[in-house]
Amino acid sequence: MIIKLKKLNKKLISKNYVDWMNNYEITKYLDQHNKKHTITSVTKYVEDINKSKNDFLFGIFVKKTNKYFHAGNIKLGRVNNIHKTGMISLFVGNIDFHNKNIGSTAISKICKIAKNKGLYKVYAGCHKSNIASQKAFLKNSFFKDGVQKKHATVGKKREDFIWYGLFLDK
Ligand SMILES: CC(C)(COP(=O)(O)OP(=O)(O)OC[C@H]1O[C@@H](n2cnc3c(N)ncnc32)[C@H](O)[C@@H]1OP(=O)(O)O)[C@@H](O)C(=O)NCCC(=O)NCCS
Repeated sequence: MIIKLKKLNKKLISKNYVDWMNNYEITKYLDQHNKKHTITSVTKYVEDINKSKNDFLFGIFVKKTNKYFHAGNIKLGRVNNIHKTGMISLFVGNIDFHNKNIGSTAISKICKIAKNKGLYKVYAGCHKSNIASQKAFLKNSFFKDGVQKKHATVGKKREDFIWYGLFLDK
């Protein structure tokens, strides 16, 4: 799959995007599942992030029959210009697109963006049961950077939160 990352703006917000945010299967590992999302709320989210100097949000666009389709989002957030670090979070909204290397490729691309911004290290947190996410970071040479015991919930279940890190100086 060929993908590109594109900065999101109001024009790129679709009903599909809002539907992904209201789909528990997509958001159960994100801090977004306890809200009802609408075009208005998603637009506000995107516009607020675009005003931020520490968060950079991109749509993941997948090439299909010579056109690019919005398939999910990836964010380089919490950029700390003192420590030169940033946190990566992502989702692929269309479940038919899962396990097709899209998440991993998006991570690889955002690491390059982070490096070009002069960051030294990027990191990401994953619920212990979120195997797909952990694999996507491990495929990009991230290392296990620590475990917060029973730090997160999925539904009613409490579980460990595992941090992954990658140095960008190589
Ligand atoms: C996490 C997520 C972004 C990964 O994106 P993706 O495009 O499906 O990821 P990739 O295809 O690049 O890699 C996933 C890997 O996990 C593997 N995998 C997926 N589910 C698995 C499971 N239950 N057990 C074992 N391996 C599994 C896939 O086979 C693939 O590995 P492979 O390439 O070695 O075969 C996507 O699953 C998603 O959006 N999930 C919902 C939101 C989310 O969890 N976001 C991350 C929060 S930290």
